[in-house]
Amino acid sequence: MILSIESSCDDSSIAVTEIATKRLVYHKKISQESEHAVYGGVVPELASRLHAEALPRILEACRPWFDQLKAIAVTTEPGLSVTLIEGVTMAKALAIALKLPLIAVNHIKGHIYSLFIEKESALPLTVLMVSGGHTQVIEVESFDAMETVMRTGDDSFGESFDKCAKMMGLGYPGGPVIEALAERGDAMRYDFTVPLSRSPRLEFSYSGLKNAVRLAVEAGGESDYPDIAASFQRVATEHLLQKLRKYFKVHPPKRFAIVGGASANRHLRSEIETLLRPYGAELLTAELKYCSDNAAMIGRAAVEMYAAGQFTPLNVIDVAPKSQL
Ligand code: KG4
Ligand code: ZN
Repeated sequence: MILSIESSCDDSSIAVTEIATKRLVYHKKISQESEHAVYGGVVPELASRLHAEALPRILEACRPWFDQLKAIAVTTEPGLSVTLIEGVTMAKALAIALKLPLIAVNHIKGHIYSLFIEKESALPLTVLMVSGGHTQVIEVESFDAMETVMRTGDDSFGESFDKCAKMMGLGYPGGPVIEALAERGDAMRYDFTVPLSRSPRLEFSYSGLKNAVRLAVEAGGESDYPDIAASFQRVATEHLLQKLRKYFKVHPPKRFAIVGGASANRHLRSEIETLLRPYGAELLTAELKYCSDNAAMIGRAAVEMYAAGQFTPLNVIDVAPKSQL
């Protein structure tokens, strides 16, 4: 079995995965959302302290499997440096105490393998990763051959939901709140401009839309919030769809997936389904509980790395907050 640790942002999570069957034997996550909500976003130093407190508590429940462990896996990149360090420190301590090798897992690869928790992988695959930290399209040939073909130049899709919610005083995380608010709103009331719609570049951008929402919030009142939320969600999604349409003209999708915290968004899911229909492409999504950050996906990715002998020595393993795929 592999014990995996995730602490790249505001979720403290540990999982135990059986290597041969990929079965998830144990999984626990303690989210810090309510602690960060008052600040309208994640406060890194606070997150770090909360991990230091939560991770040992979760680890205690994993003791029954300690003597069956073959490796310790941990998210080392990308993420917040002060929170990644909490997980890596625990992983190192366990590696020393239990005399086990370490597996350094990339968080983005983890999100991609959230599709295959307790399953065999289905590749090749085109992936749209939408979370608080990332908005990118990745061509996945194999675990070791992944290429980012489109990314955001500024804010991410999930982050733009968080910022809009903050402007309306709705707390953090903004995604679920904005989605719920949008359900009672008129999505056509505000004609926010779809970002980069005339640019041929395959790139995303959310900072302009965020500013347009800010002006609408400042000009309107609370009774306008549902319409603002619905219009924002429509345009934020339309931006993804426009760029994907452009990309699909040259690279028609065969198998497509949406991963990351914002892949829970129902409007996005249904629009992507419609977009894929003419191509007859299959749509993969992770189970809702594995869309946001969790250690189960890190453990699943680590199973691939264990099989390939991809271990990182104790004196070499380190955090790489800004690294990509
Ligand atoms: O993957 P994740 O848990 O953490 C990162 O790696 O960033 O993603 C969290 C992000 C937050 O920005 C949150 O607002 C967004 O995902 N999110 C959503 C929804 N649920 C979560 N965005 C839009 N619609 C949702 N239903
Ligand atoms: Zn994530």
